[in-house]
Amino acid sequence: MAMQQGAARSRLLASLLSRRLTQTIPSLSSSEPLQQQRRSLSSDSDDEKIITATLFPGDGIGPEIALSVKQVFEAVKAPIKWEEHYVGTKVDARTGSFLTWESMESVRRNGIGLKGPMTTPIGKGFKSLNLTLRKELGLYANVRPCLSIPGYKTRYDNVDLVTIRENTEGEYSGLEHQVVSGVVESIKIITRQASMRVAKYAFHYAQLHGRKRVSAIHKANIMKKTDGLFLECCREVAAEYPDIVYEEVIIDNCCMMLVKNPALFDVLVMPNLYGDIVSDLCAGLIGGLGLTPSGNIGDNGLALMEAVHGTAPDIAGKNMANPTALLLSSVMMLHHLHLSDYADRIHNAVLSTISEGQYLTSDLGGKSTTSDYTKALIDHL
Ligand code: NAI
Repeated sequence: MAMQQGAARSRLLASLLSRRLTQTIPSLSSSEPLQQQRRSLSSDSDDEKIITATLFPGDGIGPEIALSVKQVFEAVKAPIKWEEHYVGTKVDARTGSFLTWESMESVRRNGIGLKGPMTTPIGKGFKSLNLTLRKELGLYANVRPCLSIPGYKTRYDNVDLVTIRENTEGEYSGLEHQVVSGVVESIKIITRQASMRVAKYAFHYAQLHGRKRVSAIHKANIMKKTDGLFLECCREVAAEYPDIVYEEVIIDNCCMMLVKNPALFDVLVMPNLYGDIVSDLCAGLIGGLGLTPSGNIGDNGLALMEAVHGTAPDIAGKNMANPTALLLSSVMMLHHLHLSDYADRIHNAVLSTISEGQYLTSDLGGKSTTSDYTKALIDHL
């Protein structure tokens, strides 16, 4: 009886979770390349019912988890043709990074892509590949749904938050220099244009998904001008959404509140650096980086989904990585393409495999390899 109730509860939570991910990535505008691809879908030849998506396997554990996604897509016969692009071995002068111009063009052309993690050298070297992608493709908002996985026990059972991070400026503008020996300066840029855009996106998202509250996260008590401008923009947009509760929470207090009671929040919108940190904190609430997907929204509705974790150099090449975050990112991608049947099948297989607990990777306390987990998941499709 207890087992039946447990199974029913898991199914209920799974369907809630599925709906939440279904709703993950609206755009403020539609993507012309994607529209073109969809128009060709309505033609009658079966051969043409394929959407081309760019795939960046990335490096470190990236190729291993990307292989898992490709195997699952093949098993479910998802109508996706991958256009794979790898990080180059030398700097491309046109992008100023190891990402080639051709790989950027691939995402622009297809309007849709999936990305694995990419290494960024610490404290030296060339421009971050992630920053290059965000800037070149105008990926202005990073959306990270953070939802408890039914059947996988963490401190909180019903986490259901979305962080929306400004993705193009703030402390990540890349403007750092030495003033004199022993003194360096980093410039934090906040513009009205980028702040309005991400604030509009956050409220649009909240309204579309029936979410009740948007919290702007800031440190405007200290950074009065930069975070002050960000808040001004959020307030301006909030005034257009009287049905959504708007509040402002200082970043340090926000972290404490999240850890104590995540249910206090619903949609959180914030500048770049805070978004980077808070979204990882949220990932920790549901079981870690290996489980958390995300989507980047760009100009003209372009979307590039990505796992939130990094290249995990400590386990790279050992067949130990958990591919769930990239798989759930690919589920978001399929929903964005209105291929929800495929998305649901993959999503349900992920949830069943994790809640059964027989084939878990080591980050979730199991002993299975990436390939064992993938195989178990394919068996559940
Ligand atoms: P990380 O996310 O790579 O690793 C942190 C910890 O989580 C490690 O113990 C790792 O083994 C574990 N982990 C991460 N993903 C996992 C998965 N899928 N399965 C099992 N365990 C997993 O963060 P770290 O070590 O700070 O960064 C390593 C590199 O990744 C750096 O070069 C960093 O710049 C880059 N990075 C890239 C990102 C991206 O491409 N979006 C995001 C974050 C970091």
